[in-house]
Amino acid sequence: MLEGEAEAPSNIAIVKYWGKRNSALNLPLNDSLSISLEALKVRSKVVFDPELSKDKVRVNGVKLSDEEVKSYASRVLDRMREISGKSIYAVVDSWSNFPSSAGLASSAAGIAALTLASSDALGLKMDPKELSKIARLGSGSACRSVYGGFVIWHSGARDDGEDSFCEQIFTHDHWRDLVDLIPIFTDEKKRISSRKGMSVSVETSNLMKCRLEFVRETLPSVLDSIRNRDAKKFFEMTIRHSNSMHAIMMDSFPPLIYLNAMSLKVIDSFGDGKIAGYTFDAGPNPHVFTLRKDAESVEKTLIELGATKVIKSDISAGPRVGKKGVDE
Ligand code: PMV
Repeated sequence: MLEGEAEAPSNIAIVKYWGKRNSALNLPLNDSLSISLEALKVRSKVVFDPELSKDKVRVNGVKLSDEEVKSYASRVLDRMREISGKSIYAVVDSWSNFPSSAGLASSAAGIAALTLASSDALGLKMDPKELSKIARLGSGSACRSVYGGFVIWHSGARDDGEDSFCEQIFTHDHWRDLVDLIPIFTDEKKRISSRKGMSVSVETSNLMKCRLEFVRETLPSVLDSIRNRDAKKFFEMTIRHSNSMHAIMMDSFPPLIYLNAMSLKVIDSFGDGKIAGYTFDAGPNPHVFTLRKDAESVEKTLIELGATKVIKSDISAGPRVGKKGVDE
């Protein structure tokens, strides 16, 4: 039996990925940029066992269906088997360090941890760039969780995906004053998966072309705002990029509405970008970036708006391979 273990951070995109040019390889239509989060981590243990006749996955003790295993984890494990030349199935156990009832997506961190753990188990010495290409196969956003700090995912242009990988652009300690507040308003499960939602948007949204242009034109200024630790510009860009993705979602047919009444209250409270910048993924709970000095007052507002809990996260230094470093 071959065993490996790793822990990876979740990540939140500032410049969002929404739309694929190739679904089988998870190749995106645009570059994206994310921040890895210290407070939201997933640890995965992988055991390749010659006795198994298929891959098995448990997340926080709950067994995933064969269909779920096939469409996410096995995409990574198949590639690992191909590279290593070992045709052995695996059993995967994943645990998140945050309550699964929080309604926060843990798949990106889980798939990144699985990628690192299985590479470790098989003794493959791969650099993060290669690992990001493999994590990408499991779920697009997972490829950014292979690194800590600020991460860019280059969409690439090739059909085989060899130029669609991630790299770290700034380390976790580049902007120590920046914090992410994650208020929990609801633990409702996502109604439409990102995979399904993206394909509806690519097929039907008339605004998609315009958004791709917006991303191309503004990515350099997002990078500049981070490089210069320009909070005002960073908050504005964070808000605009989130709204741009949700505009595409609403412009799709049938419309994709991931936000709820609470989300709109957050938009209303922080939309001027003065002390914070919010961003929403395919769900109603926001990530609200602010400076450490303003964290308390932002948190207070979020509680007043109805958050039952606010998770405060620093920027993650990155994943860890091996058995140590587990928080819970
Ligand atoms: O990783 P996926 O394929 O589930 O895509 C998630 C995409 C968003 O989270 C909505 C945006 C992003 O860039 O992470």
